Amino acid sequence: MASSSEAHKGPRHVAIIMDGNGRWATQRGHPRLFGHRAGARRVREIVESCPGLGVRYLTIFAFSTENWKRTQNEVAGLMSLFRRYITREAQALYKNNVKVRFIGDRVRLDEKLTALMDELELLTADNDGTELTVALNYGGRDEVARATKRLAEDVAAGRLNPAEIDVETLPKYLDTYVLPDPDLVIRTSGEARISNFLLWQSAYAEYEFIDTLWPDFTPEIFADVLQGYGTRERRFGAVPG
Ligand code: IPE
Ligand code: IPE
Ligand code: MG
Repeated sequence: MASSSEAHKGPRHVAIIMDGNGRWATQRGHPRLFGHRAGARRVREIVESCPGLGVRYLTIFAFSTENWKRTQNEVAGLMSLFRRYITREAQALYKNNVKVRFIGDRVRLDEKLTALMDELELLTADNDGTELTVALNYGGRDEVARATKRLAEDVAAGRLNPAEIDVETLPKYLDTYVLPDPDLVIRTSGEARISNFLLWQSAYAEYEFIDTLWPDFTPEIFADVLQGYGTRERRFGAVPG
């Protein structure tokens, strides 16, 4: 339960729905991929600002299970951007003591990309600074479905007793099993929806929907949003005492 002093601390785990790259590019008369490249460049400074802002866990939504519905050109461009991004940023992430994890379903991703993801996780596994989780081909419903499948397999194999299933059980099967729940979810670009992001985990998260498009999101704006969070009172269903 959050005591009043805890309620005024900054968020330990921030999750960001990085939205608005396409509109940012369109406003400038450029193709959507131009916006995705500008968006990718923003990620580094946001990650690097985390220690100074007291954010231990940062989870970013890079590609959803629904984003395959976009044109083949945009999807291929994004996949190639992810490959280049990992290759280019790996050393900096390592040196900055960032521990990187990927969540989402890897099955639909190409082997070159998943190999780079594995390599980066391995390279940064022993880092003990910011824990960066990248949601790539991630969907909250897809994650719950995959988790349920494995849970059902454990029941069928006699490893799990259905009578003992409670709210602690399912999270152990989610991609995020090693992470605390997000305290704050930020979505850029003015849309006030969660688009299938961290459905189970965000049950008690605070939300901030801000108008800034992702490629314009700076560490200063990030700091402002975090400051706003500090003035909120989280109740978790209880009456404040
Ligand atoms: C977010 O920006 C990045 C991804 C979903 C990959 P969008 O591409 O959704 O940008 P808008 O919402 O069209 O402006
Ligand atoms: C959510 O943004 C997914 C990511 C930011 C990766 P979308 O742009 O895909 O969401 P909708 O389509 O506006 O709901
Ligand atoms: Mg969008």
